[in-house]
Formats: sequence, structure tokens, C-alpha cells
Amino acid sequence: MSPLAVYRTIPEMRQAIAAARQAGQRIGLVPTMGALHAGHARLIEVALSECDFVVVSIFVNPTQFGPNEDFDRYPRSFAPDRELCARSGAAAIFAPDIATMYRASFRTFVEVEGLQDLLCGAARPGHFRGVCTVVLKLFNIVQPDVAYFGQKDAQQALILTRMVHDLDLPIEMRTVPTVREADGLALSSRNQYLDPAQRKNAPALWQTLHEAQRQIESGERDPNLIERMMMDRLSKVPGARVDYARVVSAETLQRLWRLQGQILIALAVFFGQTRLIDNVQMDVKD
Ligand code: PAJ
Repeated sequence: MSPLAVYRTIPEMRQAIAAARQAGQRIGLVPTMGALHAGHARLIEVALSECDFVVVSIFVNPTQFGPNEDFDRYPRSFAPDRELCARSGAAAIFAPDIATMYRASFRTFVEVEGLQDLLCGAARPGHFRGVCTVVLKLFNIVQPDVAYFGQKDAQQALILTRMVHDLDLPIEMRTVPTVREADGLALSSRNQYLDPAQRKNAPALWQTLHEAQRQIESGERDPNLIERMMMDRLSKVPGARVDYARVVSAETLQRLWRLQGQILIALAVFFGQTRLIDNVQMDVKD
């Protein structure tokens, strides 16, 4: 296995991609904001099972953070991130600085109308506009054959897949199942913000999703009842403040009058300043 390369500029990254293409290699891209954990490692692992040359991008993207969000204190840990990438067998890290990605004259943004304003987009205006813009830039720089995203951020994966279809990008999109702690908490770079009491209560997200899933499997088809149950449960969790608890179509993110087909059960809950999200997707027959 060749050693891991780190590229900080677009020309360097492009040159490495050109060489990989020349050698007939299939290129995979795993976009991240760093503070890598076993969820990111799983994406890299899946990418390596399908691609010859896997690039992990590490860039804390300022345009997807709101003015009162955690951009400044978002965890940055390049040395351990590089370790994880090397261990997992990635070929390259692309870690540009802000000025490389957003020159002073930058004026172009990408939006996926409708989908971007629901669920997380309602609480985080402009968030998905920033995500789409940076991911399209990364796609143009790396030109991957396949790109890998986590189900943990289901709305993000859905929006980016829509963008790829709508803009005719020749990229296959993969969504990888959520990696969890033993107690069910979805791994997230933001989990490190939680104090011990919050960390103890955070598995309530997964437990609530699990209960919703159980009730639907037992035949419940009324989204209002499921949403009420989720709100009831979460409102009893010490220190938790619910942003949303919804059951929607997994394709349109719209409300369903009766649960049927591909559905998404999705939660966003604050513990103090820390906003955690989680979801479960289900195929409801009849
Ligand atoms: P980040 O939060 O670093 O996540 C990078 C990728 O890892 C995303 O596709 C996310 O869904 C996935 N991921 C995170 N936690 C996961 C888990 N527990 N199991 C499986 N996959 C998980 O998402 C972003 O960065 C940014 O918005 C980005 C797409 C890089 C654009 O800036």
C-alpha cells in the first residue's frame, strides 16, 4: 500500500487525480469536516471496497455554519485524522484552507429548492446551500467516480443526490448506514461537546427512534401518533430540548397522511448548545 499523501492546493490534488486516472484507477471521494471517528472510517472502508484511489477531504466549511453556530469551536484535529486515514488505507487527504476554497471574489452558490428548507434546513437557514456549494466544488476538484455519505445525515445525502441528478454530474452516490456507540448513540464529531450527564442521556434519540420503528412494525400507520409519542418521550429526558421529531416521506421529506413506502423517522435534539440528529429509514409495506 502506498503512503498517504496530503494535498493542500487544488493544482496538487488535480495532478494526483490525473495520475490515478491515467493508471486506470477508480476514484472514490469521502467528504468530511475532520474530527474523524469510526463513522467516517466506515465510509472510507466502503469506498476502498469499491475504488482503487480513495480521497478523504477534510475541510470545516464556513458557508454551512450559521452566524450563531459552532464554526469557531468545531473540533479540528489534523494529526489524529491523518492517522485514521493512513490506517484505513486512503490514498490521499485533500485539506485546503479557507482562502483556497473561497477566494475573496467568491459569489456562486448552489441550492436545492424545497428540500433544503425542511427538517434541519428549517432550523439552519442557508446550511444546505453551503453544503451543496462546497460538495459541488469538491466534486469538481476531485472528479470522483463514486462519492460516499452517511445515512446519519439523511437529508444531506438526499439533497446531494438530487443535486447530482439535477446537474447531470457523472458521479455515483452511495449512502452508508449509521455507525453507533454500543448504547445506540450515533457517532458524531459533536458528541465530544457533551458533558457526562448529557452523554448519559443522549442515547434517548436512538431509543425513541427504535420505539417509533417498533410501533410502525406493529401496524401503527398514523404519523401524528408516532410524532406525539416521540415528543412525549423526549420531553421527559433531562436536559433535552427537541428541535423536531418527524415522520416523513424519505423521498420528498413531506408529511404523509398515512405511513406507507419509504419513510424517514428523523429527530434533532439540543443538549445545551449541542444539536444532535439521528434518523431511521423504513420501508412500510401496505
Ligand atoms: P461530517 O459531519 O464530517 O461528516 C462527513 C460524512 O460522514 C457525512 O457523509 C456524514 O453523514 C458521515 N457520518 C458522520 N457520522 C456518521 C456515522 N455515525 N455513521 C456513518 N456516517 C457518518 O457531513 C459533513 O461532514 C459535511 O456537511 C460535508 C458533507 C463534509 C460538507 O462540508
